[in-house]
Amino acid sequence: ENLFQVAIDGPAAAGKSTVAKITAKTLGFVYIDTGAMYRSLTYKALKQKKDLNDARQLKKLLNQTEIKLVQEGSGQKVYVDGEDVTERIRYPDVSEHVSLVSSFEDVRTEMVNRQRKLAESCSVVMDGRDIGTHVLPDAQVKIFLIASVDERAVRRYREEELKGRHPSMESLREAIALRDKKDMEREVSPLVKADDAIALDTTSLTIDEVVEQILHFVKEKQ
Ligand code: C5P
Repeated sequence: ENLFQVAIDGPAAAGKSTVAKITAKTLGFVYIDTGAMYRSLTYKALKQKKDLNDARQLKKLLNQTEIKLVQEGSGQKVYVDGEDVTERIRYPDVSEHVSLVSSFEDVRTEMVNRQRKLAESCSVVMDGRDIGTHVLPDAQVKIFLIASVDERAVRRYREEELKGRHPSMESLREAIALRDKKDMEREVSPLVKADDAIALDTTSLTIDEVVEQILHFVKEKQ
């Protein structure tokens, strides 16, 4: 069979998941949000008051954790051990700690195994930080999405506003920059553009324009 893989990486709030979801839907591929998997483990570890610096404990916890990504209409629902955590894993406490939890090699190895398994039997659009460099090194299309920190803070603000929250722009900008720094500076599979990835600066592009470009690259390879 002819399986196709689209890898979308990039810094926080660059629009990866929005773009990946629409691209997957248009192509009839499965969308896999790897960030949601790291967020899910972080949520459970926080809930159980685990020591987030203890890699062995986190690995053990992950082994006892079922994370399910379920496609529902145009969206995706995330379940941890059967609990719907779709909204909860986006809260600031999870966002603040997820980079620490995802910095450990043992945690990443297990996550990557699960991610590769998900891509074994179907064509996928997978987004994250290390998809093109590590999880799916043979992906036919690799995209590295970037956007200025200011633009990303504005986008995040609009998302928060829809949920009735009004964080300050400065706090959003800081949180985004800090998470990028942690993700780029970690030792294991840091956030970096794959040599063969196409860099797309989305600062002044609409969502549809970004999707259109990606679909164009896919067509070229199909
Ligand atoms: O994509 P999202 O912002 O939801 O990812 C949350 C965090 O999970 C990232 O900041 C990063 O620390 C971690 N992550 C990762 N590798 C991935 C996806 C996410 O380390 N493939």
